[in-house]
Amino acid sequence: MPVISVPQAFNEEELYVDLSAIYGRSLFLKCEGFNFAGSIKLKAATEMVETAEREGILTPDSILIESSSGNLGVALSMIAASKGYRFLCVTDSRCNLATRLMMEALGSQVHIVAGQRSNGGLLGARLDYVRAMCASDDRYVWLSQYTNPANWKAHYQRTAPAIARAFPKLDVLFVGAGTTGTLMGCARYFRESRRPVHIVAVDSVGSVSFGGPPARRMIPGLGMSVRPPLLDESFVDEAVRVEEADTVRACRRLAKRGFLFGGSTGTVVSGAMGWLARHDARDLTAVAVAPDLGERYLDTVYQANWVQALYGADVLDPDGQAAGPSEPVRSPGSNTRSRQERDDSWTPASPEGRPRRGAW
Ligand SMILES: Cc1ncc(COP(=O)(O)O)c(C=O)c1O
Repeated sequence: MPVISVPQAFNEEELYVDLSAIYGRSLFLKCEGFNFAGSIKLKAATEMVETAEREGILTPDSILIESSSGNLGVALSMIAASKGYRFLCVTDSRCNLATRLMMEALGSQVHIVAGQRSNGGLLGARLDYVRAMCASDDRYVWLSQYTNPANWKAHYQRTAPAIARAFPKLDVLFVGAGTTGTLMGCARYFRESRRPVHIVAVDSVGSVSFGGPPARRMIPGLGMSVRPPLLDESFVDEAVRVEEADTVRACRRLAKRGFLFGGSTGTVVSGAMGWLARHDARDLTAVAVAPDLGERYLDTVYQANWVQALYGADVLDPDGQAAGPSEPVRSPGSNTRSRQERDDSWTPASPEGRPRRGAW
């Protein structure tokens, strides 16, 4: 019987859903939504905060500041409340009301940036605001999930070893790519432990993380409009991209069988099922990571009007498609960059990517 006294002490690390009854093809879905922050971001947030404390960057008078439109903001709000830090979450209009209210209920301050930056959009505007606040007061500590190595180390130390323990004969691992913290932590772990696990990154169409043109993306969690600084493609065997319509179909298909998962889980499941179908991989042991659960998506992915207006009425029928026809991107290791990626300007929190106190 687990008994805890701080919320970050509990995380269900050993729960998998076997999707063979739903898809007719075996895929074990590792459920990361069962903790008090409700998502996989609990692990990155905990590791980033504890590393900053160990390094003396975070002290009792510090004010945490972070750009997040969702799960990391909630996880940091929870940890800040538990440890007695102040936390300012910088977000934008895409942050849904429930998430903002959750952060405020946990005692955080939420700032919604008004405009966009011409090169860098809403994310650029959020980062500009974070930098301005850090320049104005050296009590601010920016953990910078996009550049902080503690983000991927959390998954190197916790997520990947848990999967390796549960599946000693694992063949393929599917991981969604946002900041790429989860992907890089898992990929590094399996490469360094010399386990022959094929690592497949799953991204959204419209994300530039693995090349390709930027386009509208409405479902948060996966995909980037700038190249993720943590991404080292030499550790990734393959990347596939999924259309958001297929993400929604997969979510609604799982929900119809009683599993209400978050949007990015639909992307990962759709990408994984497409890959498994193309490779006729019935004998392979395959695992995919499900970052959160579905409550935060009730007014989007699970709301008929929203889905119909964005993707068309046929997406409402989750059985319309057996598995997402995910699009292979290219073999990793390739250093070819699209023009968009080269042109994106990205200034990390510090040259080493570590959090820093005050002005950068
Ligand atoms: C719902 C959801 N899915 C996927 C991800 C991607 O994880 P990572 O940032 O480790 O790539 C995130 C990250 O915030 C998320 O919130």
